[in-house]
Amino acid sequence: MLSKSAARNFFLIGTFLCFGSFILLTVDTISQVPKQTNEHKLTESVARGKHLFDANNCMGCHTILGEGAYYAPELTKVIQRRGARFVRKFINDPQKYGRSPRKMVDYDFNDQELDDLVAFFTWIGEVDLNGFPPEPNL
Ligand code: HEC
Repeated sequence: MLSKSAARNFFLIGTFLCFGSFILLTVDTISQVPKQTNEHKLTESVARGKHLFDANNCMGCHTILGEGAYYAPELTKVIQRRGARFVRKFINDPQKYGRSPRKMVDYDFNDQELDDLVAFFTWIGEVDLNGFPPEPNL
């Protein structure tokens, strides 16, 4: 059995080692965020697109970065999957281009708003997410 002082030393050294590792890993993560998120590509247009995405409750049906509702497709990589032209057309006319029996709201965005939404999807699609979302296992 450990003596009282050995137990105390064990506790103190363990706590400081874990705390130190936690701080180092936190600093490492924070220092990688600008590179992984392509911070230099965060334009005004991307920010406006994000605002439109939030204000129009896209997350009420879709997920982005895995967050949101599971009624409609995940949108993080939608530009890579579908291309910017298709996404642009689809958003204002989902009944025409959709293939699923599930329905999307018919939005009426102007050209500037569509540009902003596409800029947002393009930016988020290029974020390095360590392999998320995984390729579907077909
Ligand atoms: C009421 C639920 C709902 C809301 C709200 C909604 N969507 Fe959708 N969305 C859908 C459904 C369902 C589909 C799949 C339609 C299909 O393929 O027929 C879809 C498909 C899409 C697609 C094509 C995805 C792909 O992989 O084919 C894009 C892009 C899209 N939505 C963007 C948006 C944006 C941007 C918003 C917010 C401005 C939004 N959606 C809000 C239900 C919704």
